[in-house]
Amino acid sequence: MDSNLYSNIYKSSLSDHEFKQLSQFIQDNYGIKMPPAKKVVLQGRLHKRLKQLQIPDFKSYVEYVFSAQGENEIIHMMDVVSTNKTDFFREPVHFEFLENELLPHLHQINGRTITKFWSAGCSSGEEPYTLAIVLQQFKEKNPGFDYQILATDISTQMLQQGANAIYKEEKIEIVPLSLKKKYFLKSKDPNDPRVRVTKQLRDKVSFQRLNFMDSSYGVNELFDVIFCRNALIYFERENQEMVINKLCGKLNAQGFFFLGHSESITNMQVPLKSIKPTIFRKT
Ligand SMILES: C[S@@+](CC[C@H](N)C(=O)[O-])C[C@H]1O[C@@H](n2cnc3c(N)ncnc32)[C@H](O)[C@@H]1O
Repeated sequence: MDSNLYSNIYKSSLSDHEFKQLSQFIQDNYGIKMPPAKKVVLQGRLHKRLKQLQIPDFKSYVEYVFSAQGENEIIHMMDVVSTNKTDFFREPVHFEFLENELLPHLHQINGRTITKFWSAGCSSGEEPYTLAIVLQQFKEKNPGFDYQILATDISTQMLQQGANAIYKEEKIEIVPLSLKKKYFLKSKDPNDPRVRVTKQLRDKVSFQRLNFMDSSYGVNELFDVIFCRNALIYFERENQEMVINKLCGKLNAQGFFFLGHSESITNMQVPLKSIKPTIFRKT
């Protein structure tokens, strides 16, 4: 790249007006709150895009995003805007409850029909694969039980990582040794210690792009359990309520709904009753 262009990009800063245009668009269409304090973060994250596109400054970038050709750029912009922190066995209490109480119950009521799970806001796949590990373990001890997992996110980059199912080895430190051996394949390169989730589990998870703010979700099935953890924390309360209601529309009668540990439905009009902290049942 031309070194002048490169240094111009890094000198360019997002004006208050450009920030307002982008932040309003992101909040209206994707729900993610962008208060003024986020301006520096957004600018830092978007510098990468300017460099990749060889666009000299933010003014031109904003024009491009909102032009007829910019539709595809919005997908890339959302990749850098979204916060994707996640881990295997994050908030382990949920998985303990699943294993010890919920799965035996669902197996009893569902019999031989497939039990369906949705990891909504799945990031790079650690959450749906943790579900897959717990569900596969249960399936092996309980003949007749079977499961499917839908994993959705707004970020195409995260979905691609999830579908590839390749992680740095340090990411699975928390996974018990016996499960590591059973469900992860190690790379042969000692200089690049990575692991891949086994095909048996990969085949159980399907990844799909879905925007919580879309009027229709394009999901034509009902789920027994929905995990929507740590994805709506960046949303305004009224958008959280709207999304939870829409997700509940995809839950079976008496289905189960999980939120992240810092999230709540207090004062929301949603068809859920609390059964444990951050675990709910459809009413
Ligand atoms: C912090 S991660 C949480 C991942 C996982 N559920 C967990 O708890 O570890 C939040 C995810 O929500 C996704 N997200 C944010 N806004 C979204 C939207 N409008 N539609 C769908 N997913 C969205 C982000 O891309 C991100 O991957």
